[in-house]
Amino acid sequence: TGKFFVGGNWKCNGTKESITKLVSDLNTVKLESDVDVVVAPPFVYLDFVKSSLSERIEISAQNTWVGKGGAFTGEISVEQLKDIGCSWVILGHSERRHIIGEDDQFIGKKAAYALNEGLGVIACIGELLEEREAGKTFDVCFQQLKAYADAVPGWEKMVIAYEPVWAIGTGKVATPEQAQEVHMACRDWLKKNVSAEVASKTRIIYGGSVNGGNCAELAKQEDIDGFLVGGASLKGPEFVTIINSVT
Ligand code: 13P
Repeated sequence: TGKFFVGGNWKCNGTKESITKLVSDLNTVKLESDVDVVVAPPFVYLDFVKSSLSERIEISAQNTWVGKGGAFTGEISVEQLKDIGCSWVILGHSERRHIIGEDDQFIGKKAAYALNEGLGVIACIGELLEEREAGKTFDVCFQQLKAYADAVPGWEKMVIAYEPVWAIGTGKVATPEQAQEVHMACRDWLKKNVSAEVASKTRIIYGGSVNGGNCAELAKQEDIDGFLVGGASLKGPEFVTIINSVT
């Protein structure tokens, strides 16, 4: 299903000093695999990373304003992201859903606006631990998928990131079987509710405690088309191991 895709979500981490080092680590390594690589620094460092990072690696924002810019204090617009050469945006991340309180509808609107303006969208979905334990994993993921499907103008620049909330930042990675089960179910949902073509072409990537040690087994799963990496993407050499995990 498309080219393997590895994203590094730096979240709210880094300083000019640490980011300079990370960029230089990423610039010196040889990326062996034929993989799309995208890193998502905090907004304030996007321009710096774009201008210093190898062109082989694209950059992503971690959020965006929901529409055209203007009198929206503290927000960053899609037009501004494009202006500095940012080509992707992460939307619907669990930290924005559950800590900041963004809902499906708001996230869907953001995705539609960003896609209409030509950005790629890394569209996150994923269940909470209590939802998994209550047997609601598929219901939650399908509802989040439906919100995107109802809103977006097309799927060419959509990448779905399945990130079970209980696996994010916890060191408790989903097993390859657990991840594969949800990825397959989401692909099947796309087939039934969008189209067979979208189901077969849309990359579904996994996120949640991916590291240099567990990436290879996950990458072997039929419906895992890449990763969205948090903590391990802040370490240059380990992130490269993950990028090169598909052979
Ligand atoms: P960790 O890799 O730190 O668990 O974070 C995953 C994530 O949220 C990526 O968006």
